[in-house]
Amino acid sequence: MDLYPPTGLPRRRHLLSISDLDRADVERLLETAEGFESVMQRDVKKVPTLRGRTVVNLFFESSTRTSSSFELAAKRLSADTISVKASGSSVDKGESLKDTILTLSAYDPDVIVIRHPQAGAPAIVTRHTDAHVVNAGDGKHQHPTQSLLDLYTIRKAVGKVEGLQVAIVGDVLHSRVARSNIQALTMLGAHVTLVGPPTLIPREAAAMGVTISHSIDDLAEVDVIYVLRMQRERMLEGANYVPSLREYSALWGVTPDRVRPSQLVMHPGPINRGVEISAEVADSASSRIVDQVRAGLVTRMAVLYDLLTEPTTTGGQAALRAVEPAGQEVA
Ligand code: NCD
Repeated sequence: MDLYPPTGLPRRRHLLSISDLDRADVERLLETAEGFESVMQRDVKKVPTLRGRTVVNLFFESSTRTSSSFELAAKRLSADTISVKASGSSVDKGESLKDTILTLSAYDPDVIVIRHPQAGAPAIVTRHTDAHVVNAGDGKHQHPTQSLLDLYTIRKAVGKVEGLQVAIVGDVLHSRVARSNIQALTMLGAHVTLVGPPTLIPREAAAMGVTISHSIDDLAEVDVIYVLRMQRERMLEGANYVPSLREYSALWGVTPDRVRPSQLVMHPGPINRGVEISAEVADSASSRIVDQVRAGLVTRMAVLYDLLTEPTTTGGQAALRAVEPAGQEVA
């Protein structure tokens, strides 16, 4: 992606998919996120960078981590935030996505963060608003900011992504996180193996530059075990992907005997203890699950910052410059 388009147009309007980013963009965002770490260590964790800007968080699907971290990220950057959940909003009264966007766009938001059960909904939103649009998860399609925070977490724990072996294990078929992560991890030079029963590995995966394994023993070969939940809300009614959750856990669950101490265990959350991951593993020293949540805050700050400030090739340093001046913190 050209950082300085000759037309002078903003270099990027939206973050809908990992394919909107190239490696330089990802590096810049991760560096910017790193720059925000120091702010998170202060007593006053707020900087004036996006004062006067407005971020709308529009969630048509349940969320704990993604919605709270986007909201806090915007607040830590001093933006005004409006958080709308579909239930309790006029969506309940039959308002369409288009009309919801037209309504919220009347407040001239700078960014609309949207989560929606339908793949492609964030792209539709871009047609009805002047705001930058960030995809916070659309159906089984994409969840780009989850991938950024995962890359950030891996890099922090291991020091690099290049050359790592990563297994994504479980319900890949219904996972937008897996689709984003396959792209993001391979872009940064990791090798991805999808591990799970044939019913939960999508057919198109073979064309995505990954290895496919139907043996849980292959977890032994990797540096990072990335566990996915059974996403029952996206499963076709009546379809039997696994004989029972109990059998699924026995065959595919990430249990202590399947994890070596040198391996990292990650999970986007929410976890179902005792189903795809045992409580022992989730709470073990190998687990980076809480680190992932923390990384979500600084990476989402980086995404908002990157969309709303001038292009730079040294994002991290620029982010620091933007937040460092003494006395500029706002309570
Ligand atoms: C994921 C999601 O919503 O796609 N969760 C998240 O954003 N942390 C994964 C999931 O729901 O299993």
